[in-house]
Amino acid sequence: MKLRKDFLWGGATAANQFEGAWNVDGKGESVSDHCTNGSHTVPKRVTVNIEPDTLYPSHEAIDFYCHYEEDIALFAEMGFKCFRMSINWTRIFPTGMESEPNEAGLAFYDRVFDCCKKHGIEPLVTISHYEMPYALVEKCNGWEGREAIGYFETYCRVIFERYKDKVKYWLTFNEINAGTMPLGNVLSTSTVKGYSGPITQVPDSPQARYQALHHQFVASARVVKYAHEHYPQFLLGNMIAFCAVYPFTCHPDDVLEAQRQMRDTNWYCSDVQVKGEYPYYAKAFWEKNGIELKMEPGDLEVLKEGTVDFYTFSYYMTNCAGVGHEEAVSGNLTGGLKNPYLEASAWGWQIDPQGLRWSLNEIYERYHIPLMIVENGLGARDERSEDGKFHDSYRIDYLRRHIQQMKLAVEEDGVDLMGYTPWGCIDLVSASTGEMAKRYGFIYVNKFDDGTGDLSRERKDSFYWYKKVIATNGEDLD
Ligand code: BG6
Repeated sequence: MKLRKDFLWGGATAANQFEGAWNVDGKGESVSDHCTNGSHTVPKRVTVNIEPDTLYPSHEAIDFYCHYEEDIALFAEMGFKCFRMSINWTRIFPTGMESEPNEAGLAFYDRVFDCCKKHGIEPLVTISHYEMPYALVEKCNGWEGREAIGYFETYCRVIFERYKDKVKYWLTFNEINAGTMPLGNVLSTSTVKGYSGPITQVPDSPQARYQALHHQFVASARVVKYAHEHYPQFLLGNMIAFCAVYPFTCHPDDVLEAQRQMRDTNWYCSDVQVKGEYPYYAKAFWEKNGIELKMEPGDLEVLKEGTVDFYTFSYYMTNCAGVGHEEAVSGNLTGGLKNPYLEASAWGWQIDPQGLRWSLNEIYERYHIPLMIVENGLGARDERSEDGKFHDSYRIDYLRRHIQQMKLAVEEDGVDLMGYTPWGCIDLVSASTGEMAKRYGFIYVNKFDDGTGDLSRERKDSFYWYKKVIATNGEDLD
């Protein structure tokens, strides 16, 4: 077995982290536009009002809005078959509540998709990637309000119809399981009405958050069902931040704790989106946490009818879980216990290529639908070398080791994998910290944490390496 001949090699981005042009051509304000910068040690803040003299990284980001032709040409030079990007809801519906879409916003994505097509690149579109209109936060506390479902459906119907001949692959919500964690209040469920302060200290209401998550499940299922009925050429996927958890030891307490975390952070969401129903332990979980979900007649049916065609996920690290152990580490959305066998990135995310093979098998065994890795990569500081170039051998090493394990999962284990789009194929703003210094790209962008930089683009060593990887369909990883 080999990787598919039409394997979707590419890269991934999100509108709020790279488009900039936050208030241009009729665009409204999204939750991300209300988030300041931060760092590994100082959390970014969300603010009710846009404060003068405060840096909001999404406002300019790396200005893909004006650089898209140059950037897509660079992706094409690397040989991308696929480009994962998101549509900014507020470019299409500035407050989320208008009855007519904003034509200038729609036209922008027409230009982007046309440019992809010109270069033979297939877009993979995330419909909502941490970009809810801020007006909906004010109106209905983000996804806690059931009316958000209807606004989302209207948005989806408009973009489906507009781009039906240009986009085949769609993901409904980025990392929908962020809603199972308090941090998800800002990023995902947007349940931050009236709150200004660090994103790590949002007053958390599991009741509101899980209600919001239920609304996202229903919204996702409704639009998947709608798309299947009206656009049979579309393929729709979910998107999970796969938080792989190992037991810290073989003590049964640790094994059970790891199982609990796997359920609560991963399977709870993907069971709904892939199997079409809440897992059997959901009821006990709600009871234990004092959550009383309000469901309307038809909700459970639509979850059943709107299951996804493929499963996608982000994979950066693994963590350990157990009872009575201490040394903690951070990670993507959620931290855990330090694994003594692994090294970590400068931001404390534990690097575990074999964990990717393990995760692919765990997921495929459970669901048996095609998988796609839509985020993976190393956030690192890049320093210009004396010869003026960026020699990012550490990034190449990280990606090489992950691709090796990804291939083993396909070639030796038989997992059905559609593609691989590493995160931040071009340097962009970090979602967790708002930094530019945490770079993932094959392409360096001259933009810094203080907002300065001329936005010029340069190829790093990893650019040439990844080009060779794609050209050989993953055979040459040297
Ligand atoms: C995922 C998100 O959580 O990880 C991306 O989908 C994010 O939006 C990526 O950028 C990497 O995380 P960070 O915090 O390093 O930007």
